[in-house]
Amino acid sequence: VNLFYLVHKRDPNVVTSEHVSIGSRRMGADTWRGLQIAPGEAPQVRVRAATSWHPFRTRPASIGWYAATDGPAGEIRVAFAVPGSDQPIGGWAELALGEGLAEVRMPWPLDGRAYADGLDLILYVPPSSSPVFLACHRALDRRRALELCVGTGVEIGPGPKPQILPSPQVQVSYLEEMPPQEWRRLYGPHYKIEVDEALWERYCVGRAHELPVPDASLDFIFSSHVFEHLANPLGHLRVWASKLRRGGKVVAVVPDLAGTKDYPAAPTPLHELLAEFKAGAMEPSRAHYERFARVRGIQDGGEKLWASRSSIHVHFYTHSNMAELMGEAVRRLGYQGFAIMHTPNHKDFYVVAVR
Ligand SMILES: C[S@@+](CC[C@H](N)C(=O)[O-])C[C@H]1O[C@@H](n2cnc3c(N)ncnc32)[C@H](O)[C@@H]1O
Repeated sequence: VNLFYLVHKRDPNVVTSEHVSIGSRRMGADTWRGLQIAPGEAPQVRVRAATSWHPFRTRPASIGWYAATDGPAGEIRVAFAVPGSDQPIGGWAELALGEGLAEVRMPWPLDGRAYADGLDLILYVPPSSSPVFLACHRALDRRRALELCVGTGVEIGPGPKPQILPSPQVQVSYLEEMPPQEWRRLYGPHYKIEVDEALWERYCVGRAHELPVPDASLDFIFSSHVFEHLANPLGHLRVWASKLRRGGKVVAVVPDLAGTKDYPAAPTPLHELLAEFKAGAMEPSRAHYERFARVRGIQDGGEKLWASRSSIHVHFYTHSNMAELMGEAVRRLGYQGFAIMHTPNHKDFYVVAVR
């Protein structure tokens, strides 16, 4: 659970007091992002209905949060509580802190009460404590994925802001389902982004499964926050395999459902992805829209989104079901292998599959 991102995005299910701000810290070789929590008289952070969220469903001992303090007497307390209450179920788990990172363990009491769905998780730094930094995730260096994109390639779904830019080593074109004039509608009138119009001549309007390039002509196919919008991902990977030269790469930045607003979702199971591959359809179905609406709490069952065929998250990924999917791409589609760069609670992870 990426409290850094969810607090930043003002997610209604993460309630914080005025004692909380988002922050980042260099610790050893890593940068950590998380919450700076000042001591106070009441719990400073409440994660509503946490036990229904995907990262808590397996009742893990730890979800990858750590804490540290600069002061002499750091302490953070963690508990599950009935919705809206500050009364811990099964008592507080208390963690004494020093300068180094200490793992925040989940306080699952073995009497079973906290096993109910819909309980809140509350975090409390008491008045006797020094300020605490709750480290939610280690930062990943996206440049490591971008640097793999050299030679001739395509960035799919760049929106108005491509991440792979042309250079003497990089010949890139952009494939977008949205013509530039539609971007404002998609991204909203308040979406402030610098658009480099000099790149527009490199754009082609089309769909990810209809790459308008000759077979075996590409060194890379890059996408960022697009893969989860695609129905039948194995079908897409088959098309892309045909467009890549041997040794060419699919490089994708994919949101991790555990690090984003998709936290209520379950990772799409492999059998569903295999069934889509067998059926062969490449466009999202009504059922995909209904699931997206359930995950995001949209009341009309996704009716309006379906009517306008708006861009939705068609599938939901963690590094784990992505690894299963890429395993199938290796077995079935002629990819040599794959790698995933991932860290718990980060908002996205990076996948590379080599043709
Ligand atoms: C969430 S935005 C990501 C934009 C940008 N790449 C980023 O990382 O911020 C998804 C983009 O993918 C495009 N897109 C979604 N499905 C697509 C498809 N099947 N073919 C081509 N583009 C697609 C959308 O038009 C949109 O611009």
